[in-house]
Amino acid sequence: MQDTPLATSLGLANRRIVLGVTGGIAAYKSAELIRRLKDLGADVRAVMTPAAQEFITPLTLQALSGNPVHTTLLDTEAEAAMGHIELARWGDLILVAPASADFLARMAHGHGNDLLTTLCLAARCPLAVAPAMNQAMWACRSNQDNVALLQERGVTLFGPAAGEQACGDVGPGRMLEPTELAQLTAGLFPRQILTGARVTITAGPTREAIDPVRYISNHSSGKMGFALAEAARDAGAQVTLISGPVNLATPDRIKRIDVVSALDMYEASMSALKQTDIFIATAAVADFRVENSQNQKIKKQDNSGSMTLTLVENPDIVASVAKHSPKPFTVGFAAETQDAENYARQKIVRKGLDMIVANDVSRQDIGFNSDQNAVTVIWKNGQQPIELASKAQIARDLVTLIAKRFREQDKKSG
Ligand code: PMT
Repeated sequence: MQDTPLATSLGLANRRIVLGVTGGIAAYKSAELIRRLKDLGADVRAVMTPAAQEFITPLTLQALSGNPVHTTLLDTEAEAAMGHIELARWGDLILVAPASADFLARMAHGHGNDLLTTLCLAARCPLAVAPAMNQAMWACRSNQDNVALLQERGVTLFGPAAGEQACGDVGPGRMLEPTELAQLTAGLFPRQILTGARVTITAGPTREAIDPVRYISNHSSGKMGFALAEAARDAGAQVTLISGPVNLATPDRIKRIDVVSALDMYEASMSALKQTDIFIATAAVADFRVENSQNQKIKKQDNSGSMTLTLVENPDIVASVAKHSPKPFTVGFAAETQDAENYARQKIVRKGLDMIVANDVSRQDIGFNSDQNAVTVIWKNGQQPIELASKAQIARDLVTLIAKRFREQDKKSG
């Protein structure tokens, strides 16, 4: 269910880019560059030199990036929020665009006299620069020597382009256009099996309220779903994790949506569909909810000896996803206590799934709440067992299988 073609979308999913902006007329293009980087899935934090702020305001870049803009090295408030060393570590890449001749000179000679040069000194991640300056400045010997020195040290050079310049000169020195810069930036990162894919995963149990203090639920811990979210992220996907109530920390670089009941999970899943290429239903969703859950605690009735709850069926989330048009590649789980493969085969057809993961939950060493699992993955013309292993390992194997089938289907549908 893609609203952008997979081949070009989200090549920067999960990537964190520190965008350095230095003083020059091309600084206005940094605003557009932030948008293009974000279109490809990147999280962007802008760092501006004082000269850059003469050309474009930090507020503009803050609004577009959705992150605070960093401007000074010696600001205690900014340092308390995210210190400069932390910021240097945060980035997967520092991209300086536009990079002025002065900045390139300071960078080449190891200066640390402002925030951006200090970040470049402290960074362990790759560095890239997109120079922008007058053609004579670009051609001048000292600038060329500085650029050569930076390239020798592994700094990537994007551009510059040749053409008409703001000052009226014609020649090389223009900053590359934002769209091209964003594509080149994505090209610095290796493609992975799920690069470009948006994956939504449900995890954990749901709770169906009886009254404000009691509920019906199950033993799902969320471990399998969270492990899958991490494995999909590590395979390059942009992951949304819709989780029932669990005691697990949110994995880094994953968007988590917390829900409580099956109806909440249904709503969140349907809302996520516009941004979903692959849907994986790991959650143990309650099939039924209490018809008339009470707003006040239900009192024990004297001498009655019993109480009756009427249950009504919850919507089947994964089946509804599979019915949606256009349909994401849809993967379900089948938690069974007997004859798991047989029941899973029935569920893949009944729910209209592309793949199902049969999970025997009668065993104590796997399934609910365990750190290990063992499953059989079933699809239309095949199946594959994944032997006993940690949930992290099972998740990696599952993601490999899902990515393969998803890419095959994606190719066929064209
Ligand atoms: O969370 P853990 O402790 O790590 O345990 C992992 C797990 C055992 C919960 C997991 O591996 C698993 O098997 N999940 C599926 C649990 C389940 O509810 O299975 P089911 O056979 O009842 O449902 C079949 C499929 O339909 C599942 O993908 C389920 O998410 C989905 N479903 C079910 C009911 C419903 N109303 N909506 C749904 O989407």
